[in-house]
Amino acid sequence: MFTTRELQDKILKLKKEKDVCILAHAYQSHDILEVADYVGDSYGLSELAQKAPQKTLLMCGVRFMAETAKILSPEKTVLLSHPQAGCPMAELLSVEELRELKKQNPDHTVVAYINTTAELKGECDVCVTSASALQIVKNLPSEKVLFIPDPNLGQWVKNQVPEKSFRFIEGGCPIHTKITAEEVQEAKALHPKALLLVHPECRPEVTAAADYAGSTTGILKYVKNSPAEEFIIGTENSIVQHLQFDYPEKKFYPLSKTCICNDMKLTTLTEVYNCLLGRGGEEILLPETLRKNAQRAIDAMLEYGK
Ligand code: 13P
Ligand code: SF4
Repeated sequence: MFTTRELQDKILKLKKEKDVCILAHAYQSHDILEVADYVGDSYGLSELAQKAPQKTLLMCGVRFMAETAKILSPEKTVLLSHPQAGCPMAELLSVEELRELKKQNPDHTVVAYINTTAELKGECDVCVTSASALQIVKNLPSEKVLFIPDPNLGQWVKNQVPEKSFRFIEGGCPIHTKITAEEVQEAKALHPKALLLVHPECRPEVTAAADYAGSTTGILKYVKNSPAEEFIIGTENSIVQHLQFDYPEKKFYPLSKTCICNDMKLTTLTEVYNCLLGRGGEEILLPETLRKNAQRAIDAMLEYGK
């Protein structure tokens, strides 16, 4: 049995010996962030996956993030920290359903949130992340957008790009869509001085009530640059914990007690340790045709997102 510190030291030593870059999404627990080479949102992680000099990438996050890393870095070994860590939203739509939607909307540019499977990405024109969606949709030459699979992120973009028309599907993140307007009212009543910062995966009525909406990294940056002392955080509750670590003198309140992504929480420090020892996680392997198809949409994202 090891203490957290002992396990972290073993991980730090192993990742150096084995030339592994640990990438951690900001929804991972704090003990994992401390051993990561890079912590970020989906956009940052996809950029870093390409730039990392190490031969192996260990993605502490969910499957679509590890797939994205493999799509961009086929020559690297990419490991997903826990084989069952998926994102329910990424699997919302089947390839057949998307093909049918494309048939019905032949003049629309298909914009896919990066929270999609590699197969779906292969059928889309461009990927976006919460950090890049607004800029990319604005930059697209097309005026008609079929936005999959998150209607809430799509609506948030639509509100800021009124000159374009949008089609959405039903669904969204099962965790963020649980947050209600009543919870917003309650949190604001309890903490009247606090600013409300939310992820655009929240429902439109929640996002509309926020002082700021943005990606996980966007929320962290907003706090860094804000003189405010109190914040209500409307995204996965690990962000509340990280912010409290970074700014012990400020106060952070979760908007909802239920905003916890169980898929993100499957990865523990022990999982990371076992992955490095070759007895855990899963190596991501993608057929080359599928990978190349998906790469087109991610390359377009990195190009339009510049
Ligand atoms: P980010 O793009 O902010 O990393 O969000 C990914 C995600 O899954 C949020 O639920
Ligand atoms: Fe997917 Fe929602 Fe979890 Fe993000 S918080 S990984 S969108 S289920």
